[in-house]
Amino acid sequence: MSQQSHRLLMVSNRLPVVVSCVEGRWDISAGSGGLVTALSPVMKQNDGLWIGWPGCGEEAPLNELLSRFRAEEGYRLHPVPLTEEEVERYYWGFSNETLWPLFHDLLGNCNFSLENWQTYRQVNERFARTIAEVCKAGDLLWVHDYQLTLVGAYLRKHGVRQALGYFHHIPFPSLDLFRRLPWNLELIRGLMEYDLLGFQTLRDRRNFIRCAHSLLPDTEVIRRHRHHTTLRHGQRKVRVGHFPISIDFDEFNDAAASKEVDEAAWFLHENIEGRQLLLGVDRLDYTKGIPERLLAFERALAKYPDLMRKISLVQVVVPSRTMVPDYRDLKGQIDQLVGRINAQYSEHGWIPVHYVYRSLDRVQLLAHYRAAEIALVTPLCDGMNLVAKEYCASSVHNNGVLILSEFAGAADTMGENALLVNPYDIEGTADAIRQAFTMPQHERKRRMSVLRADIRRNDVHRWVRRFIETLQRSR
Ligand code: ADP
Ligand code: G6P
Repeated sequence: MSQQSHRLLMVSNRLPVVVSCVEGRWDISAGSGGLVTALSPVMKQNDGLWIGWPGCGEEAPLNELLSRFRAEEGYRLHPVPLTEEEVERYYWGFSNETLWPLFHDLLGNCNFSLENWQTYRQVNERFARTIAEVCKAGDLLWVHDYQLTLVGAYLRKHGVRQALGYFHHIPFPSLDLFRRLPWNLELIRGLMEYDLLGFQTLRDRRNFIRCAHSLLPDTEVIRRHRHHTTLRHGQRKVRVGHFPISIDFDEFNDAAASKEVDEAAWFLHENIEGRQLLLGVDRLDYTKGIPERLLAFERALAKYPDLMRKISLVQVVVPSRTMVPDYRDLKGQIDQLVGRINAQYSEHGWIPVHYVYRSLDRVQLLAHYRAAEIALVTPLCDGMNLVAKEYCASSVHNNGVLILSEFAGAADTMGENALLVNPYDIEGTADAIRQAFTMPQHERKRRMSVLRADIRRNDVHRWVRRFIETLQRSR
């Protein structure tokens, strides 16, 4: 990316930082997600500026913390402060109670509220105003995710003419589903103001094109390329592509092979000697299929008694979006299922389900990936699912088996060498658990080495390069 001289403006709902206060001492550190890791060097090289909601209350000494971040990380952050009511309606409400379930094919979880939609528009407008104040001619603007679909349209209203890119991290729904959104027309028109729209999979890209074509009759396809399609809408040309996001393979691979992780993985296994570990790692989200996964594990124990005492499920769940009622209900459902399975099957020296409700630090996360012979990544619907890729990158001995939902974006590229399941099919998932458990070493190695080679080649750095190069050519 160093050959491009444009300044890069990154925009996301949250700033890529964690602000904390321990015993009265405020601290700021870079977030640990793959996106932040991949973008940090690009942001440093290109005098980058990242714009977003700081996610902390007014009591935090924000200016001081942001200056400290700049000195330490080498790029700047610009905050978009939000009031409590805005957070309530724009973030918890419209983003996470309307767009999130709708775009994950879960219409039953949607709440359509006019007030939430109005606040969502206002906050997107505020983001646009903030960007318009700080952006300069020649800047490349890259907006992320469903919380900010309308920012491009408001930027155009503010007279911003720079190249605008948008990446949609979650699935894009079919026309049938998208039409249920009362404000579908304004949303799709808004998206068409970007120069480049990036989706995770070819299916998402096609769904979007179908929606644009059907809802905006003056839209036509003018060129088709393997990675993107060019649409004409009025006077504008919009590129719509698919760019499957990935992880920093080398970072996971190297850290997973370290002595520290090796030892931590050994300890995890020592507790359950001679058994295979089955691992689930997710945010507490109803799209992740956690109850269905527990039911499949329960069914596997009932159907295949030879698994008793030989297999344990470690399910790690990070608290998430706890203000949304459906997320709170899910917690109760999981607690109950774990209790039921353990009450029925536990024996002296063997607990079938180990349930951890917190975030793991890096070493522990990698140790879990390395220690588990089998990973269960079974979302009901997912844009990509990075856990599937992180698990493979950490399987440094090529001995893990990945059981993967056919409804995760990751299935497009990983489906052939994972064991693909329909997460709603409890019986089929139970059978896949048994198949993974009994899979011979040579087959595990063959499958895992292909998976790892593909993630190594298509890592997150390549993803960033491809998106930025396409954006530069789109204008
Ligand atoms: P989503 O973006 O919907 O949460 P992904 O699977 O794409 O789903 O990304 C989840 C990210 O969160 C991964 O990078 C994963 O390592 C991290 N993560 C998930 N659960 C935990 C946990 N319990 N502890 C630490 N990190 C976690
Ligand atoms: C998904 C979304 C992101 C979001 C993340 C965590 O990955 O695509 O946009 O940031 O979940 O959710 P949160 O609501 O805590 O930001």
